[in-house]
Amino acid sequence: MENKPKLVISTGAGMSAESGINTFRDNGGLWENYDVMEVASAEGFARNPGLVHKFYNDRRKELVKAHPNLGHMGLVELEKYFDVYVITQNVDDLHERAGSKNVLHLHGELMKVRTINPPYKVYRLEEGNLETSPESTDSEGRHLRPHIVFFQEAVPEIENAIKLTEQADIFVVIGTSLAVYPAASLLHYVRPGVPIYYIDPHPAAVPSGVRVIKKGASEGVAQLIDELTRGKK
Ligand code: APR
Repeated sequence: MENKPKLVISTGAGMSAESGINTFRDNGGLWENYDVMEVASAEGFARNPGLVHKFYNDRRKELVKAHPNLGHMGLVELEKYFDVYVITQNVDDLHERAGSKNVLHLHGELMKVRTINPPYKVYRLEEGNLETSPESTDSEGRHLRPHIVFFQEAVPEIENAIKLTEQADIFVVIGTSLAVYPAASLLHYVRPGVPIYYIDPHPAAVPSGVRVIKKGASEGVAQLIDELTRGKK
């Protein structure tokens, strides 16, 4: 099979907005209703683990009712023409459920829990067993926590994400305010001359030369497919 160009796509909460999943910093975003330091930071987890478990239990129960949107499906369509790698800040599993084959989660995965202490063991939660608490343990009696990267914690997958970004022949950013590092720094690892697209209805400031598509994910990805596959169909 001929080598397809490598298309690397970095997605944020806006990718899942049309699936009914709240973003963080838009009007009505998650951080308007919760104190991020209480429910999504290492300090908050140490101080009140029960509150943190409940926060993620609630988001998990919402997630199982949500479905991938046309934006997620469009990224799967692009796999016909490109070697597609998705690097996501999102903890939902909507890219996987849409059929994306290569998904790298920078901030963890909502449907998974892991042992609190190393060696880490990761478990996938199934419907009907979506809630955890500070008392939750695995079969070896090891206490469990959400498999989420909290604020104040390292982002183990960032090195892999940078390597992928450095290999991109085309780089696309979708639905992120580019407010959180190190995820927001990926843009700077794209090789000179490699085209960069940014799909967002309220785009953050980006370097000149980035092709901004000021649309939501579904419409924006449809336009991207049209632009990237012109003459390939
Ligand atoms: N389609 C595409 N983008 C959208 C849509 C949509 N329908 N609706 C909103 N957006 C855009 C907003 O304009 C904004 O730029 O999605 C972005 C959401 O930004 P944030 O809420 O800051 O989400 P994100 O950038 O993913 O946050 C990064 O912060 O709290 C942490 O760990 C959390 O991964 C998260 C990180």
